[in-house]
Amino acid sequence: MIENLSKKRMVFGISCLILLTIVVLIIESKWMKAGTRRQQEFVIENNSTCWVRESYEVIKDCHPCTAFEIASKSQGVCVHTQNKEVLKCLSGEIVTRSCDRVAWLDEKRFWSFQISLTIGYAQDPEPAGNLLATMIELYLEFYASGGEEDGTLEIPIETYVVLVVCKYLRQPEVGRDLQINFVQSKTIVEERRRDSITVKLTNFPALFHKTGHWPPAAKYCQLPTLLDNTLIVSGLCGICRRITKAHLECLPLANPKQILGFKGNTLLAPAEISMWTKFCEVDIEKCVRDVLQLEDTTTRADLPEDIGKLESHLAQPLKAHNIYKLINKVKNVKVSSNQEFQQLDSADSRFDFHENHKFAEGYEKTLADVIVFACINLIRKRVQHPNLATKLPLINAWYERVQKHDDGELLQVCEQFQPSVTPLPLDGIAVDVPATFSLYKSDTKKLNLLGEKILTTNQPEVLGILEKVERLKLDIGSVPNDREENLFDWEAVPVDAKPEGGKLPAKRLAKKQHQLECLANEIIALATPGDIIVDFCSGTGHLGILLAQLLPECTIYLLENKEESQQLAMDRVVRLGLTNVVYFQCNLDYFTARFDVGVSLHACGVATDIVLEKCFEHRARFVSCPCCYGKLYEFDRIRYPRSGVFQRSELLLKEYLCIAHCADQTHDLESSRTNVAKSQQGFFCMDVIDKDRALRAEEFGYSVVVKRLRPENCTPKNRVLVGVLEE
Ligand SMILES: C[S@@+](CC[C@H](N)C(=O)[O-])C[C@H]1O[C@@H](n2cnc3c(N)ncnc32)[C@H](O)[C@@H]1O
Repeated sequence: MIENLSKKRMVFGISCLILLTIVVLIIESKWMKAGTRRQQEFVIENNSTCWVRESYEVIKDCHPCTAFEIASKSQGVCVHTQNKEVLKCLSGEIVTRSCDRVAWLDEKRFWSFQISLTIGYAQDPEPAGNLLATMIELYLEFYASGGEEDGTLEIPIETYVVLVVCKYLRQPEVGRDLQINFVQSKTIVEERRRDSITVKLTNFPALFHKTGHWPPAAKYCQLPTLLDNTLIVSGLCGICRRITKAHLECLPLANPKQILGFKGNTLLAPAEISMWTKFCEVDIEKCVRDVLQLEDTTTRADLPEDIGKLESHLAQPLKAHNIYKLINKVKNVKVSSNQEFQQLDSADSRFDFHENHKFAEGYEKTLADVIVFACINLIRKRVQHPNLATKLPLINAWYERVQKHDDGELLQVCEQFQPSVTPLPLDGIAVDVPATFSLYKSDTKKLNLLGEKILTTNQPEVLGILEKVERLKLDIGSVPNDREENLFDWEAVPVDAKPEGGKLPAKRLAKKQHQLECLANEIIALATPGDIIVDFCSGTGHLGILLAQLLPECTIYLLENKEESQQLAMDRVVRLGLTNVVYFQCNLDYFTARFDVGVSLHACGVATDIVLEKCFEHRARFVSCPCCYGKLYEFDRIRYPRSGVFQRSELLLKEYLCIAHCADQTHDLESSRTNVAKSQQGFFCMDVIDKDRALRAEEFGYSVVVKRLRPENCTPKNRVLVGVLEE
């Protein structure tokens, strides 16, 4: 309402508010006895007592705890006063303690807000959006430090890459407030240190946390981690994107959109589903590690195969969403279809798709170039051999182009940290460059069983496989939903906590509501006040948000790796005004926080098994409705079959995966178009896979029930595993 007022009235209103506050403060200071007030109101806590014994300096003044620390109750010092300060004792120990300067702080905040609002308003009558933007906290891992004087720090490659991105974007000087925290690895494994690099940080504003003194936000996910209000981001690309966005919010570059690519989509897809993001987040860093790990006496180096893949990728023709727009811009022509493009006859107007694959993602330099450049630069420092340029001509040309693009600024930033990389005494190098390889291929990870291992879909063979299952003499099946009444009232649920609140086509709303109702009932029945409940693979938050609404005494974590989905969920929560939600934008694998109940609705394929493993690890109860059985695949931590009983059976892996494949052939049994026999076989196959999952849970001491959702046709993937630990 206030923003609709005229400028004059707004200034008048603010002046009145200021006057009123002065009057209130005068009255308050007269009536309250000085000195007694704060001690009475605020309990003081601290997580170490060195400040009682030793002299100390306040390295971070009393400041409000983050919304995350308050919502998650993760920081003891934040529970009472919701404010904390950071001290450094003489011994070097860093202490966080709650502080009682709340009244003063509120006052200070009030005045700075009023002043900035008045100034901001005078300059720009539109409400100033980011005046209230909060600080971003970045947590980066380090192995060892040479001390303050020396300024050297031994760090993993990921930390180095994030530092380069920050510095290149002139963070934290420009952009939203960014607090860099260095967190020392819990266990310093010599092997890991071999592939670390030592950098020099001079006048670098950062906080250091030693082993055993990790701030809570650093413990929730694999490092590097970033905390932005109640959102925790883990995963190199997600973090670099967030830092870039924070930079662009405040001070756009000359061409702000470009660094995050077309429609801001650079590295947006999670590494789980995009081979390109995985390359930038995992593979190229591994290449650096591999090269650093080579013995210092190595004279002939075989370069990692991912470097060869990058070379081949750069040889691929440029691909872009807005390709005709780009062609029109570059060639000064006007085409909007392939046909029109083909009709361009002059050689000058022809667009060379290979030539124009100039940067990592195509025609423009993006964040991906910054990340890959930081890594390739380290590799070039280690592998200084003339053949590098001849064996990898396209990488070499790309490197030169990236360097020239900003007159060497990026290279300067990389070198500013003085990364310690010793050149190898090389006589020769070898690298395998595949003939054609694109890092833009989608990586479905679907198991490609070759030769005699080919997956069968031949019905007699399927029956033979299912006979093997029957010989196991297990009680395979699921039980119907026998709950007599709904444990909550949909009428009392606000629209944003209902399926209507998420972006869902109208025809799916009713079915989604049934799915949510069944799962929510199971969860309400087993949750207790104070529980931390994680909605894994939460998408736009359908289940987690409903739970946050229904269980206000529990804290709900929404974990989702897609930035856009998580943003939609966050918008819904803001509209609902819920304060018991914390968001994790990360891959399931990166999540390391403690929790009491793990839930998931349609976590695809192997994701369900990762969720269950997390629950076993934390002794958490679980309610999990699996999906996409046909997309199971094995990797180092997840092997199939899951349980000892199935592993000891005569079933081969390819036969197990055949059952999983058939489990995806379930369709609505009431539809006239459904092949009923095949569908029923599919439902049985779902029960087989879920039985295997339940047996694995039992090995960890759980009691598990596999139930069917109600009505059963609310989704073809209508099984839910409910597990509680046996007393
Ligand atoms: C089928 S959707 C279900 C979403 C939500 N639970 C619902 O019922 O509406 C699966 C979600 O899991 C997310 N996802 C898949 N694999 C993931 C992973 N490894 N880590 C985090 N999220 C993942 C996907 O991005 C997607 O949003």
